[in-house]
Parts: sequence; structure tokens; C-alpha cells
Amino acid sequence: DIEAAVEELLGRLSLEEKVGQMFQVPASNFSFGNAVATDPPEKLIAEGRAGSVLGAFDVSRVFELQKIAVEQSPHRIPLLFNADIIHGAQTIFPVPLAWSCSWDMNAIKEACAIAAREASASGTVYNHGPMIDVGRDPRWGRVVEGAGEDPYLGSLIAKAQVEGFQGDTLFDPETIVACLKHFIGYGAAEGGRDYNTVDLSEATLRNVYLPPFQAGIEAGAGSVMNAFNIYEGVPVAASEKLLEGVLREELGFDGVLISDYGSVQEIVEHGLAETEREAARLAAQATMDIEMATRSYEYLPQLVREGSLAESVIDDAVRRILRLKFRLGLMDDPFRYIRPEKELDYHFCAEHLQASLELARKSAVLLKNDGALPLAANGDSRIALIGPFADSRDLLGPWQFSRYGYETVTLYEGLRDNGIAEERLLYAAGCGVTEPLDGGIEAAVAAASKADVVVLALGESSDMSGEAASRLSIDLPEAQQRLAEAVVAVGKPVVLVLTNGRPLVLGWFHERVDAILETWFLGSQAGHAIADILTGDYNPSGKLTMSFPAHQGQIPVYYNHFRTGRPVTDANAGSKFISKYLDGPNEPLYPFGHGLSYSRFEYKDLRLDREMFAGDDKLTVTVTVSNSAPLAGEETAQLYIQDRHGSIVRPVKELKGYRKLWLEPGESKEITFEIRRSDLAFWSPAGGYAAEAGKFVVYVGTSSKETVSAEFEWKDRD
Ligand code: IFM
Repeated sequence: DIEAAVEELLGRLSLEEKVGQMFQVPASNFSFGNAVATDPPEKLIAEGRAGSVLGAFDVSRVFELQKIAVEQSPHRIPLLFNADIIHGAQTIFPVPLAWSCSWDMNAIKEACAIAAREASASGTVYNHGPMIDVGRDPRWGRVVEGAGEDPYLGSLIAKAQVEGFQGDTLFDPETIVACLKHFIGYGAAEGGRDYNTVDLSEATLRNVYLPPFQAGIEAGAGSVMNAFNIYEGVPVAASEKLLEGVLREELGFDGVLISDYGSVQEIVEHGLAETEREAARLAAQATMDIEMATRSYEYLPQLVREGSLAESVIDDAVRRILRLKFRLGLMDDPFRYIRPEKELDYHFCAEHLQASLELARKSAVLLKNDGALPLAANGDSRIALIGPFADSRDLLGPWQFSRYGYETVTLYEGLRDNGIAEERLLYAAGCGVTEPLDGGIEAAVAAASKADVVVLALGESSDMSGEAASRLSIDLPEAQQRLAEAVVAVGKPVVLVLTNGRPLVLGWFHERVDAILETWFLGSQAGHAIADILTGDYNPSGKLTMSFPAHQGQIPVYYNHFRTGRPVTDANAGSKFISKYLDGPNEPLYPFGHGLSYSRFEYKDLRLDREMFAGDDKLTVTVTVSNSAPLAGEETAQLYIQDRHGSIVRPVKELKGYRKLWLEPGESKEITFEIRRSDLAFWSPAGGYAAEAGKFVVYVGTSSKETVSAEFEWKDRD
């Protein structure tokens, strides 16, 4: 009986020992940001002053530290080993923004299960992921770790990731604890600047940022991490309203709440607390169980003794931590996750690489194609392969710690392995990611001049997105722009292949190149996946989960924005006093849901089984999708709903469902969707979570923009 065992152990711990469980110490003794290293981890662990360890990726380091805990610490309580396993441990999968574009929940779940299998073999038991923040501002580098701008899709992906990491039971030594981060509102940092302030309405918090957390908690996530930002003027780390109120009481989360790195101490820098001691009291009172990296919680025993904090607050936190250790089986066998023999079986094995390749193919998005793709099969044609990503291994993206980076397949290698003879590949780097190369442009122009087609591989290096990697401008770097201008001027067909961690501004390229393939960071098998798409061995199927702005000045631009009082319509487009820019469009260049295929999909005959439904009945939507191209392919048909009137202003449309379908050349299929009350519900200050009776528009199509539509009405039975 776990509960009885937890109580028995808790009863034996002194106040200091209880608080010791509430610290997470970095595996190596270092200082970072505000977190100044104090005593080395070995000493803290031996004295029972740490309950978990961050970032001990190496199995021998895990063993060493666990041995200290169970042989030297006062009550021999095993440690938790935590790490950021965001998109793979040794076999690296596409970055989460990329895999979200697959809209394939089974494949995402499988990727997380594989990541868990590889990580747990090395002793990691507790993940600092998935990152499920909704991201609407591409300047924010952390959009690369999330599932894009949509709360509905983000919720499905949150669930798939939790199920993948945690499997059926946490007791299984091949699973790891999922930690939903960052609760909450981190994606709304002003100006897209990491760690910046946030000012959000409660309706947006609940309707946009909260749903993925709700889904992750319903899926059983064992942990949650707080966001660095403030909400209603209070740093989330200190917010009783959000942590105790919304997260624990409303959503029913009873797992371990961990602070993001240093964020307890940062309550002082924010200016909410005057002292670290007060910061510790606020965070503990808000039910923050573990303090990561900093040591403000060392004040907790004193606060309890002087009566400023109830000991029951500490007891509850320690109960949650110990319960997790029991659930993981660590109390019976502290070494059960330390399995070097499994590392040999699992790490970077053929089966995991195949799963990575398959998800990589599904994650790339064909943004534009005037017919340059797939590349002609003609055995003599020559391909100029130009750009800093043409033969680069920087295709894994941020947040990966694989020992196998040197085996990442480059684009050059991918094309060669795909059967393109090396004599046909005219390679020139042209420039570095941000720096010109001596003679680089001349060599690139020479290669382009001799070729039949140019594959121009441009993008961002992996350190240009992720944490602390916001950008003022989301253009391609200047050196690459110069290279592109010179190469395009040669006049050959150009296929742009992008490697990057966020939407970019691509207007110049859209006007001038023949095809654009967005590949993000596709992971260990990137080069093979891209080559399969370029040569037509794989028909692209990815759909964007974040809009690509037409101009920097539009940011943030996302499809599910609120209606305004002065929208642009076909009828008023020329008038002045409407919501528009003087010098450019409102619409993004590539909207949410956009993604082309080598097939061509058409939608027609959208029909509803009735025009009105009531209460918990359902409405069935049917639409015919056909493939008019001579190539079979996969389409993701998307269903959006607009609520015409509400007690608060509603978005122009919101994704509420999608179907994947395979269509042979010339084939048509009827697909159906069901709409229910729950699809119409939202949160409003007046009514809480509810659907409101009235008129709705349903849209079905190939993207959030290209759709067919019909109207219906829903009324409550009462
Ligand atoms: O898990 C991360 C978090 O997302 C950002 N700060 C550092 C943490 C620990 O690595």
C-alpha cells in the first residue's frame, strides 16, 4: 500500500529532511543565471539536502549519485533523475513544432515512447517535457518545442505525448514521468522576448493556453512545471490562484509541481517578494513541491518554526514527491532504471531510426510548388546543391543531447543514398549560417550555372531557436539572403529547402523560387527524409501548425484571432477606416493548416444532416474530397467552426476536428465529421465553460483558409 508506506516514511523525517526532498540539484556543479552553485551535488545528496537531480544524462553518473543517496543520506531515500527529453534521447526525432505538422497522434506517441525507452535505460525517470505552451509569436524561440498556435490540436498532441512518455504504468522501467510545461501563459511573452512579461485576459488564458494542460492532466501526467512569467501581476511560481486554485483544485492535478530553473528565487527579482525567504514562503504556499536549481527553500524550516507557514504545506509537498518515488518502483529498487545493457539494445537502434525517418517524412511541409518538385527522374540532370545546410549535420534542433550527432544524415548524404550519383550533385556551401564565405557566392553561382535545377538549403542554426533564443527579425540571415539573390539571378529553377525552428518571413522567396519545402529540424534521419520528398519517393503530407507571416509587422498573426468591429471584406477593401495596414496585407503568407502535396485535393458538396440540433444530440457534416492529380496521396481534411454571436467576442474560426485520408489518382471519397455540444463550448466570465445557443458556421477544407462552408444552429434543450 503506497499511501501507508508514504505516511510511515514521512513520519520518520525531520523538517530539514522533508525540505531536502523538495530540492532539485543540477548534476554538475555550475552557476547559471541567478542560480549560483552552492555545495556540490555529492555533498547535498549525502546530507539528505536534495531529492532529485537535473541533467545527469550519463548512466555512470546516475549510478554514482544514486549510490550516495542510498548509502549515505540519512533515510536512504533514492533520488529522482530528471532531464529534458524533448524530441528523443539518442535517436533524435523531428522537433515538436515539426512533428506537430504531421497531425499524426500515433506517430507522435510512438516517438515519445521510444524517447522514454532510450532515456530510461540511462537512468532518467522524470522528463521535463512535453512543452505544451501555445505559441503565437514566431520571434519567441521556444515555439520550436511546442505544437504551434492551436489549442485543439495542441491538446491532442499533449495527450499523445503524455501517453507516449508514461505508457500504461509508471512502474514500467521503460517509461518516464511526463511533466507538462510551462504552466501557464509563457507563450504570450510580450514582443516574443523570452522571460518577458505577460498580460493576458482570463478568457484567453482559459480558452487558448489552458486546454492542452487540461488534456495532459486528464491523460495522467505525473508532473507540471511552472512558467517564468507573471499572470495578473503575480509570478506564476507564487500564484496561489493559478497553482493551487486552477491547477490543483479545478483541474484536479495531484502530481508533483516543479519550479522552472531558478523561478522561485526570481520572485524577488520580479519585485513581488522583498527577500528570498518571502519568495520561498509564497512558492511553497502556492503548492510548488520542488525548487529547481536555486536554494530559497532552505528558509522553509525556519518559516514553519516561526509560524509563518503551516507544516502541513511541507508534508503535502513531500507526500507527492515520495508517492512518485514509490510509483516508479525506486523505493524497492533504486537502481532499476540503470540498465547499460538496454542502452546497447535501444540507443540509436535500427527500429528507432526507422520510426524517426517515418515521422520526419510526415513532418515536412511543402509550402509552394510550381512544378519543380518532385525533381525530374532524368538520370543525366544535374542538381546544384547549395547553401549552409546542403551538407550540414545541424539538423537535430535545440534540446537534444544525443551522443550520435555525428551520424545525423545530411541532405547531401540523403540524396546520394537515394540513388543520385555524386557526379550529378554540384555542391557549394555558398556561405555560413550568418557569415559570408570567401569565394562562396562565386562557387555557388558557378555550380548553379552548370546545373539543371538548384536545391538551395538555407535556414537557422539550432541555437537560433529554443530557450533564450528570441529574434527581433525572423528573416533569413543577411549572408544567406545575399547568396540566394546571386543564385536566383542565374535563372535556373530553384527549390528552397528550409531548416529552422520557427516560421520565417519568406515573401521575397515566395515571389522568386519555384518550390519551398519547410523541413524544420527533422532529426537523426533528416537527410534521408528530405531526399525522399525531393525525389518523389514520399508524397509530402505535412500541414502547418503555425502561420507564416507575410511581414514582420503582422506579428503576432494566427488564424484563430478574434473578430473585430471593422473587418476587411471584399466589399470594403479600398476604404480607410477598417482594420488593416496601409502598406501590406493582413493575411499571413502561409496560413495555419496549409501544406501542399504532389496530389491535388478538391472539396465539394458540404452538407449537414440537419440545420439545427439541440442539447447533447449531434450534427453530421459530410463532404466530398477528390484527388485530381495522377499521383496517390494523403490529405488532412480540417473542420473549423465559427460561433456567430456569444456573450463574449468569439474567434473568426476554430479547429474542431480533422480526418486523414488516402486518395488514389482520380479517386473521390465522402468523409463525415460529427459536431456536438462540447465542440461549441468555451469559457466566458459570465457563464464559465458552456456552449451558448445560436448560429454557427462550419468550414471544411485543406487549410484554415481554403474551405467550403455551411451554417447551422444549436440550442439548449431548456
Ligand atoms: O526544463 C527546462 C525549462 O523548460 C526551461 N528552463 C530549464 C529547464 C531545465 O532544463
